[in-house]
Amino acid sequence: MTARVLDGTAIARAIRAEVATEVARLASSGRKPGLAAVLVGEDPASAVYVRSKGKACEEAGMHSVTLRLPAAATEAELLETVDRLNADPQIHGILVQLPLPKHINSEKVLRRIDPAKDVDGFHPLNVGKLVVGDKTAFRPATPYGVQQMLIRSGVETKGAHAVIVGRSNIVGRPMANLLIQQGPGGDATVTVCHSRTRDLPSVTRSADILIAAIGKPEFVTADMVRPGVVVIDVGINRVDDASRPKGYRLVGDVAYGPVSEIAAAITPVPGGVGPMTIAMLLQNTLQAMQQAALD
Ligand code: GUN
Repeated sequence: MTARVLDGTAIARAIRAEVATEVARLASSGRKPGLAAVLVGEDPASAVYVRSKGKACEEAGMHSVTLRLPAAATEAELLETVDRLNADPQIHGILVQLPLPKHINSEKVLRRIDPAKDVDGFHPLNVGKLVVGDKTAFRPATPYGVQQMLIRSGVETKGAHAVIVGRSNIVGRPMANLLIQQGPGGDATVTVCHSRTRDLPSVTRSADILIAAIGKPEFVTADMVRPGVVVIDVGINRVDDASRPKGYRLVGDVAYGPVSEIAAAITPVPGGVGPMTIAMLLQNTLQAMQQAALD
């Protein structure tokens, strides 16, 4: 069997078009959602992400601001930047790109973002809201994107065994919380695996839906999946490849070729989960503006 390929680029395009339609409708009453992205330092992958986010905002008709601080910026300077954005009425969503330089306490910075503007959903208030099923929570963009891909591809989560490999605050943990909520894209039985999990292949082989989010190139191999599984690959890893113009290529956390021979459906890298993340960030920014209007 060769797996159905779940096209994140196409699904993300549809969501971005829906967001753009809503933004245009709001514009007629003089309102415009605004997103600010803060980038500290020169990490090339982060710079690419931040540029893509800004471009996507503008294409959706949103207000977009990107603030770049040097790698040597102090924690106090970054906190001041966050305070300014918290107070700016044109900005509805704030995103501080991670990872931050080692001398800055990321937790302290994330906690400084006004929870009402925390479109990444990383502030403990939003984490808690997600856990208790509060609909006003901002859902972290990557797992939210995975959930939308499942829903829009017709993958039934209700009653399914979803196995997540990885327990990060950005993907694994919020993914588990989304999949156990009641309703569409939820009602799954969830197992979260990590580096201390005993006999990982036997756990992953019991998955109906397998979500790989560990950041290790081609970690999930064919012997770890059972026929008919739906595989979602969240990983984006650069591996050296002298035959490529840039000297590297992108691979996921899943050995795509062999696993796609066994799975019922699979997401490619690139073109799978990646584009969904940006689409959901735009959706969250819209949600932030709509919720701010209700306060
Ligand atoms: N770095 C990797 N993923 C993310 C994300 O979703 N949000 C932010 N702010 N930084 C990231």
